[in-house]
Amino acid sequence: MGNVTILVGAQWGDEGKGKWIDILADRVDIVARYQGGNNAGHTLYVDGQKVVLHQIPSGIFHPEKISALATGVVVNPHQLVEEMKKVSHLVTLTPERLWLSARAHVISPWHIHLDGKKETESAQPIGTTKRGIGPTYAEKANRTGLRLGDYVNTAKRERWYATMRLETPGFATHQEVYAAEWKQFDAAAVPLAPYVTDAELLLRRAIAGGLGVLMEGAQGALLDINHGTYPYVTSSETAAGGAFASVGFAPKQIDKIYGVAKAYVTRVGEGPLPTELKDAVGQHIANVGKEFGATTGRPRRCGWLDAVALRYSAEISGYDGIILNKMDILTGLDEIKVCVAYQHPELGRIEDFPWDFEVLAACEPIYKSFPGWTEELPHGGSFKDLPHNAQIYVQGVEDLIKVPVTMVGTGVNRQDAIFK
Ligand code: IMP
Repeated sequence: MGNVTILVGAQWGDEGKGKWIDILADRVDIVARYQGGNNAGHTLYVDGQKVVLHQIPSGIFHPEKISALATGVVVNPHQLVEEMKKVSHLVTLTPERLWLSARAHVISPWHIHLDGKKETESAQPIGTTKRGIGPTYAEKANRTGLRLGDYVNTAKRERWYATMRLETPGFATHQEVYAAEWKQFDAAAVPLAPYVTDAELLLRRAIAGGLGVLMEGAQGALLDINHGTYPYVTSSETAAGGAFASVGFAPKQIDKIYGVAKAYVTRVGEGPLPTELKDAVGQHIANVGKEFGATTGRPRRCGWLDAVALRYSAEISGYDGIILNKMDILTGLDEIKVCVAYQHPELGRIEDFPWDFEVLAACEPIYKSFPGWTEELPHGGSFKDLPHNAQIYVQGVEDLIKVPVTMVGTGVNRQDAIFK
């Protein structure tokens, strides 16, 4: 048995992973993020104080643990420095306990510009966070990107600028017009430099040495570049497999893989969402669940739990357990529905999540109905402490997705966690 745990979002992101990373971090020595960038937003409550993290792993508030950003991550240097300042009021940061991969690619003002331009001008916008994520991964795949290790070296960074100015139309003008942004971008290299290291080597050594490592996914498996609702996806590998690719370790080192799912679904941005509720119930879930993006503040689209999508997510990521989060948001509803299959106007009943987003968009959900509960959910305790109908709901979800629900979230605080 290995000593690596992977925790990923099992739906379209915003499942509340930050809180569970924070809880599970107690059991490990290192928490590592392996994909995404500051498109992510993890909201945590530390000693009753709300903290939103976009890049630093959510385990940072455990002073004795190490946090790492591995190569699959893309880094916005200025934002990262700002975030480091924000957390330094609560914890002491040192290069010994924050490892930034020299291989991780850097999001520059140019990439942010390209993301915004594409979203504004495209006839079919994705609804990105406009943080420059897609263009940075594209640059990486094009082998013309800037890696963190090169960015913090002034001569290498200048060499990258020179090449980009020569080969990329518009880049030189952008640097002239937005000189203040580029100055800010350059300035972040100094405070980041001491933290930049061969994070993958250190992680592999730690794993080989028997330390416990928690790999923290960002976004959700259904936004995966390969397996998600393409093109309405993010640009990285959000499913569990992304962790091996990014950190470069052997899958046999894995002990457990957990998927965090909301007890309903949300999605922010464009793309199909078969169980979306555009009625008063959807509005109620959005209000009670405070469903507004942690990064962009955009309202999230809400709907009933989609067991077809969640089963698919479990197939591609191989969950040992599902963490069913935000159960408390459903309290007070008379009836709770779960989508068990789709009905397509031409293809009939569909049980498997389709590869084609247009097929998915044309599907109507087929629901199974569960009775609601009115009792307040317990803040901690065990599964049998849940109201009877809440237990029936959890068991119903397990039956539909064929994966055990190992933990249930019943509130925003650390203690609002029920272990099954
Ligand atoms: P990008 O990652 O900014 O390129 O955005 C691509 C898609 O992923 C859009 O639909 C975004 O709304 C979505 N997305 C990116 N990050 C998150 C996240 O952390 N939570 C939820 N959705 C996200």
